[in-house]
Amino acid sequence: MKTVQTKKGTLAMKLSIPQKLVALSVLGISATAFSAASFAAVNADAAAALAKKSDCLKCHAIDKDKKASSYKKIAEKYKGKADAEAKLIDVVTKAPKVKQQDGTEEEHKVVASKDAAEIKNLVGWILAQ
Ligand code: HEC
Repeated sequence: MKTVQTKKGTLAMKLSIPQKLVALSVLGISATAFSAASFAAVNADAAAALAKKSDCLKCHAIDKDKKASSYKKIAEKYKGKADAEAKLIDVVTKAPKVKQQDGTEEEHKVVASKDAAEIKNLVGWILAQ
């Protein structure tokens, strides 16, 4: 009984090293593919349409300040920040108090969609400006 168990254990160990390597490389490849894909996957037309539908463009323009900062400025501010997407999603879904260009505060507009993928796409589009 003992001998059999030891043999099984040895066999499992022999197998586990290459299996782990395979698993790691598969993970590595898919992680790269995923991040590249999620970057390229911003659908600008859908994002712009949702921004229009949500009245975002009443206060924000792509490259000039209106009542609020331009999306280019916002993208610049969050460049390289790992939590940018989560922060921006909060701004457009949780109606936090925000300061307008004239210094007064008001609750931020909530995006006209409940679809997480659509909201993520909109935020990704802003960050890509
Ligand atoms: C009534 C005016 C108004 C509307 C409409 C509006 N925003 Fe804003 N938004 C602001 C203000 C004011 C701020 C905060 C100050 C700034 O960034 O200029 C802000 C901030 C933001 C920020 C965060 C900027 C930062 O630096 O953290 C994002 C992202 C954003 N808005 C996106 C949107 C989106 C998307 C929509 C449409 C769903 C939208 N806004 C609609 C006025 C508006």
